[in-house]
Amino acid sequence: MEQRRRPPGRPDRPGRRDEGARLVTPGLDGRLALVTGAGRGIGAAVVTALVEEGARVVATDLDPAGVETLAARHDGRVTARPLDVTDATAVETLVAGTEETLGPLDIAVNVAGILRDGPVAGLSDEDWAAHFAVNTTGVFHVSRAASRRMAGRGRGSIVTVASNAGGVPRAGFAAYAASKAAAVMFTRCLGLEVARQGVRCNAVSPGSTMTDMQRALWTAGEEEASAQRVVEGDPATYRTGIPLGRIADPSDIADAVVFLASDHAQHITMHNLYVDGGATLRA
Ligand SMILES: NC(=O)c1ccc[n+]([C@@H]2O[C@H](COP(=O)([O-])OP(=O)(O)OC[C@H]3O[C@@H](n4cnc5c(N)ncnc54)[C@H](O)[C@@H]3O)[C@@H](O)[C@H]2O)c1
Repeated sequence: MEQRRRPPGRPDRPGRRDEGARLVTPGLDGRLALVTGAGRGIGAAVVTALVEEGARVVATDLDPAGVETLAARHDGRVTARPLDVTDATAVETLVAGTEETLGPLDIAVNVAGILRDGPVAGLSDEDWAAHFAVNTTGVFHVSRAASRRMAGRGRGSIVTVASNAGGVPRAGFAAYAASKAAAVMFTRCLGLEVARQGVRCNAVSPGSTMTDMQRALWTAGEEEASAQRVVEGDPATYRTGIPLGRIADPSDIADAVVFLASDHAQHITMHNLYVDGGATLRA
């Protein structure tokens, strides 16, 4: 279950209005957002953050269980829908149906992603294709369906959750990193195409974030030591640690997504915002 947590000692930013439990970002109140891969991890945190900022959210995932739980928790603000982002027809049907029943989409957030690590020598054709089908083509399907409609209305914001691995070579991550780099460049090119129609397209590139995807990379039975190794880095694989000294919470990534989706970022497009505690040294 994703809780929206703030690291200890981290104050809320100024300029936000506290209305009981809800924090309001001007520009999100009443807006309609679509989120993919929303059933757990970063996607679930993005849904929670958008709802807290006043948006209505269509939460979609290949596995419907998590999004149904979110819909029950945020009664009336979250609509749960199953969606495989690799299926172009299903994406088009979902977006068309959403606009018919709930109104025009203001925000689309691509979070669905997969990671199967391993050296290139042992990488199967299927693993390579699966990375691109979900991490790149899935982003294309959703962004095409959303941007076409947003451009016609002259407003909208699309945010793609990529990875810092898309910008820095990592051993064992070739297919994943390549698929994420492609998703970022696709998102930036789309941003250029639709800028004059008032649609902004940005990416958020997280570093190591505490989710099932991250934990799947760890040695079983050595969770604490595995997490420590991520923070410290590993010179043997040319991997830097995390200068800010901790693995990200999903809410850290969600905050960046909400910012880029909101009117606070009204003059930002084609940007790729790294949220990785400095891990890539922005090299
Ligand atoms: N966790 C990290 O350390 C980390 C770091 C960098 C980038 N990311 C990226 O952030 C995003 C979210 O990652 P996470 O850590 O929450 O992962 P996760 O594995 O916990 O969740 C991913 C979600 O995507 C869904 N999904 C997978 N294939 C799908 C498909 N074909 N259609 C629709 N949904 C599908 C899964 O069902 C799951 O709910 C991913 O794109 C991931 O690559 C994660």
